[in-house]
Amino acid sequence: MLASPSSHSIQLAAIKLTDAEFRQLREFIYAHTGIALSEHKRALVYSRLAKRLRHHKLDCFEDYYRLLTQNDPEGDELVEMINCITTNKTDFFREPHHFRFLAEHVFPQFRARAGASRRLRFWSAGTASGEEAYTLAMVVREAFPLSETWDIRILATDIDTRVLAYAESGEYTIEQASRIPDGLLRRYFYQGEGENAGRVQAKQVLKDLIRFRRLNFMDDPWPMRGLFDVIFCRNVIIYFDRPTQRRLVERFAQLLRPGGYLFLGHSESLIEAGHKLRHMSQSVYQNQERA
Ligand SMILES: C[S@@+](CC[C@H](N)C(=O)[O-])C[C@H]1O[C@@H](n2cnc3c(N)ncnc32)[C@H](O)[C@@H]1O
Repeated sequence: MLASPSSHSIQLAAIKLTDAEFRQLREFIYAHTGIALSEHKRALVYSRLAKRLRHHKLDCFEDYYRLLTQNDPEGDELVEMINCITTNKTDFFREPHHFRFLAEHVFPQFRARAGASRRLRFWSAGTASGEEAYTLAMVVREAFPLSETWDIRILATDIDTRVLAYAESGEYTIEQASRIPDGLLRRYFYQGEGENAGRVQAKQVLKDLIRFRRLNFMDDPWPMRGLFDVIFCRNVIIYFDRPTQRRLVERFAQLLRPGGYLFLGHSESLIEAGHKLRHMSQSVYQNQERA
């Protein structure tokens, strides 16, 4: 006998996201994440949040909005809602010209000033499931081998706790790792065997460089102290409106060491980069202040 669908799934199919409900949720999401959802994102909001309604056995989005705004004292549902709404697409060696720019132009400068400081700080801001941070860790390790004494850290942050847990595990499928050049894959990842066949795991030599933390760009102030030599914030600000993008880039600029670099995604240009940042290469900007 075929299993009959649960009464709840029948009800769910009938749930509508009304104009007023969409507007409420959209404003709530904007206020808490900076993510600006246009009218054509209605289907996305519906499909991503429907599972939260199902989870709480709610029959309408208005009840879900009430739960978020009146019955979520610890903010647990807010975290779950944000985890559903973010888009986390990423890849190893995504936009590879950025990593070539680091190796060919940026790292030689860091080496040249090494007499002054052998301390380097990187930030992968909006790291998603960690591929960007592990890529940075590989190119950093290649350029500054363990045999040399450098004090290097990579901070990797995201608002989404689900992808961060994944990032921290350092485990990926062979398909996900397919853009890592063979030599680097062998050097920096364990190949899974037995029940882990088809999977790879980042070695400790990479993990030791990276700290994963939850950070919402809308928080003010941010908790980190000290300046960064390199900030990667790629394919993140496209989700924000112009005023939020501008504010965020200003905050990044304030956290860049003189001569430090900001890397954005390929479709993210800084028309109003501010007086400090100068365009150096495709979506690469340098803080022009002198030390
Ligand atoms: C498309 S991914 C980009 C991943 C990686 N930087 C890359 O280019 O491959 C965008 C990430 O930005 C994060 N994000 C969105 N809004 C955020 C916010 N307000 N604070 C921090 N991270 C946010 C999302 O959770 C998501 O993982």
